Order: sequence, then structure tokens, then C-alpha cells
Amino acid sequence: MFGVCYYPEHWHQSQWDDDATMMAELGLTYVRIGEFAWSRIEPLPGEYTFDWLDAAIATLNRAGLKVVMCTPTATPPKWLIDSYPEILPVDPETGLIRGFGSRRHYDFSSVVYLRESLRITEVLAKRYGDHDGVVGWQTDNELCCHDTALSGSKVAQQAFQDWCRQRYTDIDKLNTDWGNVFWSMEYRDFSEIDLPILAVTETNPAHRLAHHRFSSDQVVNYHNPMVEMIRHYAPGKFITHNFIPMNETAVDNFALAAPLDFTSYDNYPLGRTDLLLTGAPTEELRRYMRTGHPDFATYYHDQTRGLLNRGFWVMEQQPGPVNWANNNPRPAPGMIRLWTLEAFAHGADCVCYFRWRQAPFAQEQMHAGLLRPDNSKTEAWPEAEQAMAEVALLDIENQPLQAASVAIVTGVEAQWVSDIEKQGEAYDFNNVQLSYYIALRELGVNVDFISVDADFSPYKLIIAPSLPIISDSFIEKCKTSTAQFIFGPRAGAKTSEFSYPTNLPPGPLQKLIPIKVLSVETLRADCHEGLSWNNHQYQSGSWCEQLDAGDTEVVARYDNTEPAIVRQDRFTYIGTLTNKEFLRDFFQHHCQQTYIPTYSFGTDIRVSQRGELMFAFNYSDQPQELPLDSYTSLLLGSSHMEPHGVAVWRASGS
Ligand code: GAL
Repeated sequence: MFGVCYYPEHWHQSQWDDDATMMAELGLTYVRIGEFAWSRIEPLPGEYTFDWLDAAIATLNRAGLKVVMCTPTATPPKWLIDSYPEILPVDPETGLIRGFGSRRHYDFSSVVYLRESLRITEVLAKRYGDHDGVVGWQTDNELCCHDTALSGSKVAQQAFQDWCRQRYTDIDKLNTDWGNVFWSMEYRDFSEIDLPILAVTETNPAHRLAHHRFSSDQVVNYHNPMVEMIRHYAPGKFITHNFIPMNETAVDNFALAAPLDFTSYDNYPLGRTDLLLTGAPTEELRRYMRTGHPDFATYYHDQTRGLLNRGFWVMEQQPGPVNWANNNPRPAPGMIRLWTLEAFAHGADCVCYFRWRQAPFAQEQMHAGLLRPDNSKTEAWPEAEQAMAEVALLDIENQPLQAASVAIVTGVEAQWVSDIEKQGEAYDFNNVQLSYYIALRELGVNVDFISVDADFSPYKLIIAPSLPIISDSFIEKCKTSTAQFIFGPRAGAKTSEFSYPTNLPPGPLQKLIPIKVLSVETLRADCHEGLSWNNHQYQSGSWCEQLDAGDTEVVARYDNTEPAIVRQDRFTYIGTLTNKEFLRDFFQHHCQQTYIPTYSFGTDIRVSQRGELMFAFNYSDQPQELPLDSYTSLLLGSSHMEPHGVAVWRASGS
């Protein structure tokens, strides 16, 4: 299924009919509307103007299109902010109010804003909940985008104090858990607690971790009643939310996704690549600037799918240059089609393009759409057409999601720990997790992202690139699972209140791998050293743990012959960050050991499986040969892959 993001309020009503007709002719099914339209829905307090919205929905429905309605809560209108300025959030970095004039200008701790959000949600859900042409709902828009999870406001501080009161019950317990005796930080009462911001130097990491946990709860507590409200008035209709990259929300995304029917992701591969490769060598950026890095889109698709472990939507798909990265190239020919098919290969049920027509005004006037402002079709149009025909031909949507054999354990606490305690400039949670993912994807392995609470039984290989806080129940689950486990450095290195385990890291993991981390050194990223494994030399660096390996098997050693990687039974611990060649070879070895098939078809080829279908995506601007055997029957493309081409064949054994 396919759809588009449309803003009827941006165009004269006389244009809507033609727009709807063209959307239907293109083969679209869904049209998402309304996420920023509050000032048109309620131009004055309590005065609603629904005639235009009714007409827009009717126009779309007449053309056979189904509407996905959004709550307009990402953009509280001017009159609301003027009536209740306390809705505005405060920037925790500067202490300044983040004002009206763009979007997401609200504080998750504002009780007034929660009330107002539920009010407008109720008004909309009452009106359109049982409307046949409104088939589903999107909550808000990209919650926490633009770094909005945290606020330094007075209301946030008071809510944080209440949250601490509930969690710790006794101020002495909080002082002890946080180690507040250090630097005379002890509090006498919960009402004294500040937010951990705007201090002279580093604030207590335990305080900051608590602040993150609290802020995440605030987002979830803001979102949950909105979902309930829609459910109440729109039973049987789907409710989703469009996530940004999970490492950017600063929220427990598993908790946020829990009440939804399915998750959605906004996929901007070129913008993401430009931002994520900011510091990369020129050649690497140049190579991927018009295609996106081969693993950046699927990294987020797989995480989006993993939040509920079911099919997801791409709610916004980049159609051409965006306007918000440092540099905004045009996609290479073929990439809109490739990204679309790739999303389906990774479990998407629907791809919606953002946006229907480029807006000639306001902030995003340089952002492409399927149409230009003069209504001419952009290059994305024929590519979307082609992708739609191919998705139908291959009947991809009816293929079951592929059961992956490999899982990556992920979670926001690891992100928080890495952000709070850098220790070295080269350790970054997302980079560590991404490097593990890339190594697996270069082997053509399908990967599921799971939480510590997931069912481990489907997996043969479970990898935790970064898991600094480990609970006893997690250890028990590992013991009863039959999978092989690989832990990256820093596993078990912190207690749940951000202290150093007194029995030394890896803390509770010692029950599975009886070792001790004696010290950690961090090195500048370009000052790497050697790592010898399996009679080969690789690189170790950035983060190197000195291990007391006890009686465990030493798998790899540093240059100075000290242990770098150890193993006990099914559990392996990697005490250092390594180069990508090591990760690829190491995972290849483990896949072989656990009978997980791998495919190495070339640096810029990625292989994915959905149900019976095997896909190969060529991210290179050069043709590539797929080494398929002669009895492989190709369903799409050929084994001689065109630049940016796609090939599909039936998986062996199907
Ligand atoms: C998304 C957002 C859209 C639009 C788009 C531009 O993050 O949800 O409203 O701003 O980016 O690429």
C-alpha cells in the first residue's frame, strides 16, 4: 500500500479535486492530513471550523482515497500560547524559553497543555472517529523531534520532584542512591531538588539518569491518554505514530509504542546520511551522498519494526532534496524506487511519500514533493509508479515478516549512559550499535532489534552492543535461552542508579562470564592499536578494557598480549571497540557456528529476506554481478545489477 502526506489547508480548495484525482491515478490509497492544522481547525478558543476539513476529507474519499487523521498537537496555535505561556518549554542548555514561531513548542510536563491536547483530540475524534473515510489516526508528529524531550521549566522541575518522591520515597534513600555526599550535594527534602542543568560543571550522572527516566515517562504519560481518547471515539480504527530515529527521541521508544497498533517511521536517507557522516572522510560521504548509506534506512526500519515486532509504515518517505541537513543533494536516479522496495523488504506494510506538493512558502519551501509548486511531476513520480507496480507484481505485502535468527538487544538506557558519561570522545552508543548492525548487514543477515524484555527463543545469536545496566532477570533469561550471546564493551558497567558495581564491571554479567574489568582506557579514534584474533591482526582502540579473564577462554588479545575478548560457554564478552573488518569476520564466524546463512555480494550490495523473497539492493553507481547459481529464478531484475538497481528471487527451499 502507498500513500502521501497532504496539507489541504495550504492550497486553494479549487485545487483539491484535481489533487485527489491525480493521487488516485498514481495508485495511492492513503492520505495523511491535519498534523499541523490546529490554527485552521480552531482559529479562536472554542470556535471550530470544520467545513474545510469536512470538504477536504469528502474530496479525498470521493476519489477513493482513505484518510489518516492526525492530532494537530505538534503546533499549538498562537492564541493558546498567549493564553497559557507556561506551555512553552525551556531549553535545558541555556535556560531560555523556546518560543512560538516554529513547531513542537510545548512542555511535556505542562498540565495545561495535556488538558488542551486532550480537548482538541476529543473534538476531532468525536467528529471523525466513526467517519468511514477516516480509517486511522496518527498521534501528534515526530514526538521529541528537535530535542524536545527534556525541558528546564519550573513545571518540569516540580513534576520531577514528584517523580523522585514516588521513586525513592525517602530523601535519604535518594541521597544514598545518587551518592550525593560527593561534592556536598545532599538534599534535605524532595522540594529542594533541582533539574540537573545550568550548573558550573558536570552534574551528578545519577541525577541526570533520573532526569532522563522522568522525562521519558512524561512523554509516555502525555501520549498514552491521547491514544486512549482516540480509541474511545474511533474503535476499530488504527492508531500509529511517526517516529524519528530512535536514538534521537531520548525516550523509551518501546514504552511509547506500546499502546499503538503499529509503528511508523519517517525515512529521509539523504538527510540522515549527511548528518551521520558529517565527520567521515570526504570519499565516504561523496560515495553515499545521493544514495544514502546502505544501512542507515534499514537500521531505522528494523528498529521501528522491532518496537512492536510487527509490520510498520513509512509515514514520510523522502522524494527529493530535503531542506534541513547541512547539505541537501538530489537522490541518484533510481533511489526513490530502491528505498521504497527496501522498506517493504524490511517489513513495511505501507510507504507514504512526503509531501504531495512542494510548498512555495514558509520554512520548507526548498523541500521537494511528488509535485513542484507549478504542478509538474518530479523525478520521484515515475519512480514511485514503478515501485508500486513492482510491489504489486511481487505481492510483497502478503509475504510474512522474515523470522530473523540474529537479534540486537537495544534500549534507551544505554543511550543515556553513553550521553551522560562520555569518558572518551569516541564512545557513542549509536555509533557502537550501528557499527555492529552494519557488520551484520554486510553479511546479508536479517536483524531484529529487541528489548531486554523480549522473547529470546526465536534467536540463535543475540548481540548486545551496548548494555551498561543489566538486571538480574535479564541474566536469568540469558541462562534459560539456548542462543549464543555476544556482549560489547561496557556491558554491566553501571548499577541501575548509575554507580560503579562494587564487584567491578561487568557487574551482574559475572554470573555468566566470571571476569573483572580492572580499568578502562579511552584513546583518540585515530590512535588505534592491534587486536589479534584467529591468527589475524585487526584494530582495537577508542575504548579498551583491561580484563582479568579468570578461568574463561581468551578469544582475542591486545598487542600487549592481555585478554581483549573472552568466552565462557555460550557467552562472549568483547572488552574493546574494534574496526569493522573485525566485527564482520567475528560475526561471520558466529553465524557459521550457529548455521545462519550469510551473503557477501559486494561492499555496496545489501541482501534482505521477507518471506519467500530474497532482495538485493545495489547502492553503488556501478553495475554489479550477483553470484547466484544458474537455477535461481529471478522475479525482478537480473544477476547483472544496474547501478542503484534491485533484484528479487525466490529464497532457496521455498
Ligand atoms: C519531518 C516532519 C515533516 C517535515 C519533514 C521534512 O521530520 O515530520 O513535517 O518537516 O520532516 O523533511
